[in-house]
Amino acid sequence: MCRRRPASGPDRSRRLGGPVSNSRKGCAGLALAACAASVIGVSPPPAHRIVLAWRIGLALPMTCHCLSTELLLHLVMRADRVECKTRSMGELNGVQVTPEALQSLGLVNYGHFTSMRVDDQRIRGLSQHLDRIVHDCRVVFNSDLDRDHVRQLIRRAIADKPGSFIVRVTIFDPDLQLGHLGAPAKPRVLVTSRPAADWPAAPMRVQSAVYRRELPEVKHVGLFGALWHRRNAELNGYDDALFIDASSFVSEGATWNIGFFDGDRVVWPGGEILPGITMRLLKQVHDHTITAPVSYRDIPGMRAAFAANTAIGVRAISAIDNIQLPGGDPIIDTLRKEYQEIPGERL
Ligand SMILES: Cc1ncc(COP(=O)(O)O)c(C=O)c1O
Repeated sequence: MCRRRPASGPDRSRRLGGPVSNSRKGCAGLALAACAASVIGVSPPPAHRIVLAWRIGLALPMTCHCLSTELLLHLVMRADRVECKTRSMGELNGVQVTPEALQSLGLVNYGHFTSMRVDDQRIRGLSQHLDRIVHDCRVVFNSDLDRDHVRQLIRRAIADKPGSFIVRVTIFDPDLQLGHLGAPAKPRVLVTSRPAADWPAAPMRVQSAVYRRELPEVKHVGLFGALWHRRNAELNGYDDALFIDASSFVSEGATWNIGFFDGDRVVWPGGEILPGITMRLLKQVHDHTITAPVSYRDIPGMRAAFAANTAIGVRAISAIDNIQLPGGDPIIDTLRKEYQEIPGERL
């Protein structure tokens, strides 16, 4: 990039940024330090960068023949911006995802995902999450995913992250065009993470809405309808939306399954829902459990209701519309304890 050419005449010196002051040398040095760092893929800590910048700055009388200070400043700002943004944007098939790939995900928005809570490198239900990813990829892309490869990519992306957080694995093909989604797909694996909320979350009040997600058994990225109802519920003073079908049977929440306690058994409404992994794990560990249709009319007769998903675990529901439910029923703590005692699988 930096071929040395003789500076000739005043025009050339203006193009190069004119005489180089000490502060400009420093800035340009900073630019070179950042450029060098971004080329070799290492970013020195800020203090080292400044020292490095001034050292390089001393060598500028030679380098300024090659690049203008403005160009160098532009490069450093660009390198820093790209570095800061992509680091938090995640990895696509094991390398930092580019803004272009993310743009395709954002604008075409065709794909599927799963989210998992990681606690000290362990994930409850990891095998089921991998099964979900493989199953949904078949449905969404007619394509077979290598589950061990997906697992490796997750491990690679988050292996050095301690504590608890949420990792999301999104499968999409950045090359698929909006106008030609029937083209053969090469789905890729995006791994991103976000902070985990503290458990237990406070009880929530939910508003019912008649709605059915498209392909309810698939965890796909088509979230508009669910988020539309969540937004309306929030605007009406509730915490979230609960979906009811056209015959008034309860199905699921915007991003969670719902369970009830009838005083004896935990009742999970069946029907057209996402078979959540939290729900499936809870079914395995809680003895008195049934799957049965729950009509809207049955709700006032229930002792308790709760939401379940990987991010919230078990969260009490204290009201559905104007039907009050005891958010503090002991069943909620029992289920939470049973869920938390499920050992996580090591990544
Ligand atoms: C519509 C819907 N139902 C249920 C769930 C619960 O799934 P899981 O327990 O696998 O998080 C989710 C999770 O996001 C969801 O979006």
